[in-house]
Amino acid sequence: MENITKTKPTIINIFGGSGDLTWRKLIPALYNLFLDGWLNEKFSIICIGRTEMKDGEFIQKLKDGVDQFSRRGKTKKEEWDIFSKYVTYKTGDFSNKDLFIGIKKDVAVFEKEINENANKIYYLAVNPQFFEGIADGLKDAGLNEDVEHARLVIEKPFGTDLESAKALNVKLLNIFEEKQLYRIDHYLGKETVQNILAFRFANAMFEPLWNRNYIDNIQITVSEKIGVEDRGAYYEHSGALRDMVQNHVMQLLCLIAMEPPVSFDADEIRNRKADVLHAIRKIRREDVHEFASRGQYAGGWQEGEQVKGYRQEKSVDTDSNTETFAAIKFFIDNWRWSNVPFYVRSGKRMQQSISVITVQFKPVPHQSFPEEAIENWQPNRMIINIQPDMGIRIRFQAKKPGLKMQLNPVDMLFNYTDTYSSGIPEGYETLLLDVIEGDATLFMRADQVEAAWEILMPILSMWRDNPSVNFPNYSAGTNGPETSEALIAKDGNNWIILPFEKKNNE
Ligand code: BG6
Repeated sequence: MENITKTKPTIINIFGGSGDLTWRKLIPALYNLFLDGWLNEKFSIICIGRTEMKDGEFIQKLKDGVDQFSRRGKTKKEEWDIFSKYVTYKTGDFSNKDLFIGIKKDVAVFEKEINENANKIYYLAVNPQFFEGIADGLKDAGLNEDVEHARLVIEKPFGTDLESAKALNVKLLNIFEEKQLYRIDHYLGKETVQNILAFRFANAMFEPLWNRNYIDNIQITVSEKIGVEDRGAYYEHSGALRDMVQNHVMQLLCLIAMEPPVSFDADEIRNRKADVLHAIRKIRREDVHEFASRGQYAGGWQEGEQVKGYRQEKSVDTDSNTETFAAIKFFIDNWRWSNVPFYVRSGKRMQQSISVITVQFKPVPHQSFPEEAIENWQPNRMIINIQPDMGIRIRFQAKKPGLKMQLNPVDMLFNYTDTYSSGIPEGYETLLLDVIEGDATLFMRADQVEAAWEILMPILSMWRDNPSVNFPNYSAGTNGPETSEALIAKDGNNWIILPFEKKNNE
């Protein structure tokens, strides 16, 4: 049983309270934290939205969201009735001063009632165009002033390029201290992503191998079967690089490649991750074609269903040049990783929905077995499965039973669902609890965000200035464009696809 300590009294204001994120993710996460006993009974959630809604109607909508999306399944009436008393809805215009004066009053009333200083969380679950205005509103009302307890949570995208990210950082850091800012990357809240740190730094047996002497290449794939759904208007200005690579994929790369931290202090972990970003070799504009591949999905078939091409999606230009797939080869120029390629890729409408990191080890230095023994021989490989299957698989060679010496790859498997029976928290549960507890380890610091943008800028600008003449260049339900295969094949490698469900010796 987990050691649960009640958090400090907290009032959380969610801007974008009537939006999708609140409904699908934030309230289900807060509800689970409540059920698991993390939340103090002195707690208040105020959802602020621009849509007019009555309290009852709003609470019903939230309940539908929890019923649909919570890992626990449907709500139980008695529990939901208690939880929903903590939640209120407020209609408000984010540019109106009165809204912030009202929030200030709510906070004062709450703190007076509980007779102590509470955590005050302002969650920006809104379109980025509102970030600065809301921050200004908070400042004008003095809601930024309690540096120890007032916290601002910002959803992605954090800027659309290096310049805008820098400007946003300057703006926010004029109002808040860095320790008050929680820039979300929801991948960092995922159980399996957090486990990368445990796996690497709580075991003595892997770290000695974790370097250029033993590792041939590392691959990170974050692929999705879904298309852009109803987010065409946003995605048209984003594309796969901004939407997935700049944040989620780069963070996975940092966790895999970082040096061992001295402690689990938030800044220590973030410093080690920032070191990786700074060591990534800058790709020159003229070399982009050698290091990066882009794609856009055409219509096709997925699991027997015909699906549209990207250019036929709602709110998407029929001539769109936005990439729905990106693959990049990175090098990390430091002692540990010199000349080890890191291949990353992410795309929509791919064959599988899978997030996986593959560590491909080098072959043995000398092959002593006779040729007939090594027909099926393969170098060692480790697969860290982030989702949907969660676990780690290590592939090594064993003797196949029989009278002759014949080698065969076999797998050693750690699988969350077989190992643990307790429910696995959602990323947002972890992240919200961390915000409430004031632990910024899993959040992006200003310099990390900027460093990640800096790495991608040559690719972004090159692709912007040179529209693809081949789009669309992969069919829905496939593994992306041929250029992505070529990107890795020219190094003598290939993208490793290993269905996790595969049993030994299959
Ligand atoms: C979001 C992207 O950050 O991550 C989406 O904006 C993407 O386009 C989503 O679908 C994927 O998240 P997950 O947790 O489903 O892998």
